Amino acid sequence: MARRDWDSELYESSHAFVWQFGADVVELLEPKAGESIVDLGCGTGQLAAKIAAAGASVVGIDSSPTMIGQARQNFPKLTFQLADAREFCVAEPVDAVFSNAALHWIPEAAEVVARVAAALKPGGRFVAEFGGRGNVERIHTALGAILQAHGMPGETRLYFPSIGEYSSLLESHGLEVRWAQLFERPTPLDGEDGMRSWIEMFHSYLLPGGEREAVLSETEERLRPELCRDGRWFADYRRLRVRAVKIR
Ligand SMILES: C[S@@+](CC[C@H](N)C(=O)[O-])C[C@H]1O[C@@H](n2cnc3c(N)ncnc32)[C@H](O)[C@@H]1O
Repeated sequence: MARRDWDSELYESSHAFVWQFGADVVELLEPKAGESIVDLGCGTGQLAAKIAAAGASVVGIDSSPTMIGQARQNFPKLTFQLADAREFCVAEPVDAVFSNAALHWIPEAAEVVARVAAALKPGGRFVAEFGGRGNVERIHTALGAILQAHGMPGETRLYFPSIGEYSSLLESHGLEVRWAQLFERPTPLDGEDGMRSWIEMFHSYLLPGGEREAVLSETEERLRPELCRDGRWFADYRRLRVRAVKIR
């Protein structure tokens, strides 16, 4: 995400579930040997590597220097580029653009979809999963209320569209939606500190310096009755999955 960098170490040590759930999205992509594919918002590269294992030629693109640095270290034979999804370009049009768990970080969705459409060959496909309408609503409501109580705005600026909203956007850029699904996926978080670690991973930019600890503990306590079962934390994910084809 452009407005901050990511902690790739915390991401790989405690948030592997992000790319593990993304394996299903690679299945939806159905990468084939010889295809050219962009992995947009590739993070530390695990799904780009999975796509490459099918014999496709992959370029992983991400705007975080830390994530791209880690991806290059993890998979030195693959190609990774530091670029923003709102502005990325490809040397030659590609067979597919893939994206997992990245597009909700970019409120300027029309800019991203315009770049995706420009990157695809005619008949090329766009396969993505990201947060859909209502994603992590309980976490955001609790965190926002606690931040406000501490005199902070608690503004997340994320993009969680409905199927209708996102399909219209894709269609307006010549991408025909062939399949879409919005579904709930309560996602188990690692360990007793799972919720705190999730907030630190994905929303540390919101946490006030001096009151960081208080905000984290109060948010945990507010969420515990709803999102902690038998000592196990869950994030109230709702995911949007789409498969679209460039028709013009
Ligand atoms: C939760 S991670 C997902 C990474 C990877 N797709 C996976 O499944 O493990 C979200 C990624 O989106 C990237 N991202 C956020 N905003 C972006 C933007 N404007 N352009 C490119 N990448 C962006 C972040 O840097 C981060 O690596």
